[in-house]
This record gives sequence, structure tokens and C-alpha cells, in this order.
Amino acid sequence: MKFFIDTANLDEIRQAHALGILDGVTTNPSLMAKEGIKGRDNILKHYKAICDIVEGHVSAEVVSTDFKGIVEEGELLASIDEKIVVKVPMIKDGVKAIRHFYKNGIKTNCTLVFSAGQALLAAKAGATYVSPFIGRIDDVGGDGLDLIEQIVNIYNNYGFETQVLAASIRHVPHLIQCAEIGVDVATCPLSVILGLLKHPLTDVGLERFLADARKTME
Ligand code: G3P
Repeated sequence: MKFFIDTANLDEIRQAHALGILDGVTTNPSLMAKEGIKGRDNILKHYKAICDIVEGHVSAEVVSTDFKGIVEEGELLASIDEKIVVKVPMIKDGVKAIRHFYKNGIKTNCTLVFSAGQALLAAKAGATYVSPFIGRIDDVGGDGLDLIEQIVNIYNNYGFETQVLAASIRHVPHLIQCAEIGVDVATCPLSVILGLLKHPLTDVGLERFLADARKTME
């Protein structure tokens, strides 16, 4: 299972990278706006800065919604660095563009996926990754993890190469259940990655070991 960090914050990306367990980064326009990145050149420079930190794939999202615009924007993003994966929304022109990128050797991440049907379309079009949003489905009373399981089963049935990238992960149990289901990739905030470290018995145990170690040094 690959771990991606879902942020455009360079410091958080560096922290996750320093742990040695980071496989890639996902961003979206909201995360870029949160960092105060403004203007096309600054956006491109910021993606390059992310690529310079990590070894794996970096998803950079298009904001065009028509086929021509998505293709032009995607090609520009892909030209920044070979690590760039063009993130394309699950809309009709997005599916067409994913197919176009597939034929032209540009990797894609199909985003804003909320149903098995959408995931099936993304795989048929040749998306490198599909991003179902767990937390946002839970937010409206659904079960995001049920969707993840459905997609993994469908992809396994037909041997689709599209990787299931579980997104909108809000807490550790989401991440653990994704691992149990067998997603290819989970993208989550730094707080969730660091949350994996935590267990009260580890803290109590360490305190006791260190206290006993001090006794052996007296
Ligand atoms: O990057 C897409 C996704 O992970 C967004 O998460 O928490 O804004 O629903 P969230």
C-alpha cells in the first residue's frame, strides 16, 4: 500500500518525506489556495518545488472543464516534471481527456469520484489512479468505505490497471480500513499519517522502560 500526503504545504511534505514512508503527493485547487499560491507561474513553481522534495507521483489538478482546456492545461502541468500526474475531474470532457492523455503517455488521477459507475468509466478511459472521496460521502450520510470496497472488487474482477487511490481520508480508522480492503494508495493529511504512531500503551511502556533503564545506569 502506498502512502501519499494530501497537502500543498511544503513543510508538511518535507516532514512526511523525512519519515521515509512517503510515496507521493496529492493536491487540489483548495489545498493550493490554502497555501496562498496565486497566479499561473507561482502555481507551476509550487508544483515543481513539491516534485523536488519527493520521489513519487505528484497530482496536479486542472481547473478547465472543457476537453481542449483540460488537454492544454494537463500538457503544461505534465511538462513541469515527470513525477506530475494530471488530476482530472470526473465529468464527460474529463473522461475524454483521460483517454487522450492515456494514448499520449500522460499519467492521470481521476478525481471527484463518488460512485462505482464513475470509477468504472475512469478505468475504461485508462486513468492511472481513481480517487473516490471517502470523507465527503460520509459527510452526506453515505458510507465511503463501502464504495472503496465496491471499486476494488470491480477492478479485481476485470484486472483493470487503474490504481484505487482512497482520498478524503479524515482519520486513522478510515486509513486502516482502506488497508484491510486492499486499496493501492491512500492519500491523507499529515495528522492522519502521524496518527498511526499513536498508542497509549506505547507511551506508558516507553516511560516504564526508560525509568527502568535509568535504574540500570545508577
Ligand atoms: O484531495 C482530495 C481529497 O482528499 C479531499 O479531502 O477532506 O477535502 O474531503 P477533503
